[in-house]
Amino acid sequence: MKRLEGKMALVTGGSRGIGKGIALRLAEEGALVAVHYGNRRDAAEDVVHLIEEKGGQAIAIGAGLETALGVKQLVQSLEEALLSHTGDNRFDILVNNAGIGTSQPFEETTEESFDELFAVNVKAPFFLVQQALPLLRNEGRIINISSGVTRIAFPHIMAYNLTKGALNTFTLHLAQLLGPRGITVNAVLPGIVDTDVNASWLHTPEGQKYASEMSALGRIGQPSDIADIVAFLSSSDSRWVTGQMVDATGGSHL
Ligand SMILES: NC(=O)c1ccc[n+]([C@@H]2O[C@H](COP(=O)([O-])OP(=O)(O)OC[C@H]3O[C@@H](n4cnc5c(N)ncnc54)[C@H](OP(=O)(O)O)[C@@H]3O)[C@@H](O)[C@H]2O)c1
Repeated sequence: MKRLEGKMALVTGGSRGIGKGIALRLAEEGALVAVHYGNRRDAAEDVVHLIEEKGGQAIAIGAGLETALGVKQLVQSLEEALLSHTGDNRFDILVNNAGIGTSQPFEETTEESFDELFAVNVKAPFFLVQQALPLLRNEGRIINISSGVTRIAFPHIMAYNLTKGALNTFTLHLAQLLGPRGITVNAVLPGIVDTDVNASWLHTPEGQKYASEMSALGRIGQPSDIADIVAFLSSSDSRWVTGQMVDATGGSHL
């Protein structure tokens, strides 16, 4: 039997990049995956088709996460989708993956950009967990996709780094709060991963050299490297791990 057979998972930002890798991997393990997207419905539907082609089950759910209303809509859509696919409104695994980056250095960071980063990267997961908790089964799993920048200094993207620090703090306290329900809460901290956000600089000879030399393992991270860790944290194999920040940087800056 597959490790996540009979489980329902929501992956925010499951339409592209790391989230896509996670959605594919959880579906491969047998979970029914709600593939959330912001604007790119086409990308989310492609992921659903890929999953279905391999015999898995998935649904696409759209909602902008820059507003509280969007978070509320996501929970409503999730509940409707669960009811129509399973006859039950409960789910088992919440992966808070959707996030945005910044290219503004500390000195040039605007209030607008700071607020947007915190809205999508911190406020959305906070209220998503709060509102989805009544639907999350006991023994469930919450996995927050944070970043290696909470351990490694990259001051040129300061505001983004702060959002991931907040997500780590959220992870710690949420784990304590939800322990009595058997729900585990962990964060995964990727290093540089080959996704759209990095494509412009990473897909150059200099970018490849810089990023691969950063890792002790001498290569660039792929979405599947992160997805495999999330699959473990989603499964019962990880039942005794909670409140942890799991470094997934391929040993960058050891
Ligand atoms: N890539 C890296 O090197 C790296 C390293 C460390 C941590 N991370 C973290 O890993 C996560 C995924 O990163 P990624 O590189 O895979 O990003 P990505 O390729 O840019 O994908 C981002 C995903 O989040 C969704 N999203 C973004 N803003 C949204 C919004 N306002 N409302 C709703 N959905 C939104 C996107 O949906 P649409 O396309 O539909 O808008 C997309 O599915 C992020 O939290 C990021 O901070 C990434």
